[in-house]
Amino acid sequence: KLMKVFLTRRIPPEGMKILSAAGVCEVSQWDSDEPVQRADLLKGVQGAHGLLCLLSDKIDAEVLDAAGPNLKVISTLSVGYDHLDIDQIKKRGIRVGYTPDVLTDATAELTVALLLATARRLPEGVEEVKNGGWSSWKPLWLCGYSLSGSTVGVIGLGRIGKAIARRLMPFGVKRLLYSGRTAKDYAAEVNGEYVPLDTLVSESDFIVVSCSLTPETQGMCDKAFFSKMKNTGVFVNSSRGTVVNQEDLYEALSSGQIAAAGLDVTTPEPLPTNHPLLTLKNCVVLPHIGSATYSTRGIMGALSAQNLLGGLQGTDMPSELTF
Ligand code: GLV
Ligand code: GLV
Repeated sequence: KLMKVFLTRRIPPEGMKILSAAGVCEVSQWDSDEPVQRADLLKGVQGAHGLLCLLSDKIDAEVLDAAGPNLKVISTLSVGYDHLDIDQIKKRGIRVGYTPDVLTDATAELTVALLLATARRLPEGVEEVKNGGWSSWKPLWLCGYSLSGSTVGVIGLGRIGKAIARRLMPFGVKRLLYSGRTAKDYAAEVNGEYVPLDTLVSESDFIVVSCSLTPETQGMCDKAFFSKMKNTGVFVNSSRGTVVNQEDLYEALSSGQIAAAGLDVTTPEPLPTNHPLLTLKNCVVLPHIGSATYSTRGIMGALSAQNLLGGLQGTDMPSELTF
């Protein structure tokens, strides 16, 4: 008898192919590129043995209860898993698959692109070309900040943080600071200096947030944080929006406390188009596209399908979250 799986969205075809070829599950799906409504999610998971979800789906006790006792595996098409209630999942003995590693390079590339775009004011420049604001080559027009000779601080030197650091070093970064729960032995590969968060914040010209969202990091970048930054400091976040207190960030950006911010993640997502941050020229906001390359999303689709199958069949999952 086929096991039931529920997919909360259309996923890359690479993943669908693997699921159908396996012939072990009957797939039902929220057949849309838009998020599943809560009521449809609660209905869709009923009796499911496997659930494949995205980072925009909150998987909590209510969803797990709606699924019922069949549920063996949750496979998320993401490296982040802050949308999963791990305590509740653990209590029920459900396995979790996720997609680390395969999106590291794409996410690091996007973070470097965002950092440079923010520091060198690319969106503003593009806009000026289009709106006729480009009147002449002007010595002090659209000046920004250089990575060369700078100090970069990476908050969370994990897989992605290290990949970002590795890409930034060739720009002539002078010092690479990092903070986090523990020092990393691989930090030597990027000449990383482990420092307390306060030191990182006050000494960095560029701050890159690349940590996971946890109770400790939630709201970490707040008024006190921004007040310690240099006035010429550039802040970049490609982890999770909730690490930042956005009201405090708005205040820091609009008062000149910090120079600029580049955000690939916000609270909420999508950010409403009338949000105050979007009125600021020194804030570059992207729609959470860190892993968005054709090849990476295809591989994420395939990996999430393989994780799901492993969980259904009680075999190894290529990327199982251990907790
Ligand atoms: C993206 O943010 C992910 O967690 O994969
Ligand atoms: C810039 O284009 C320069 O020639 O300095």
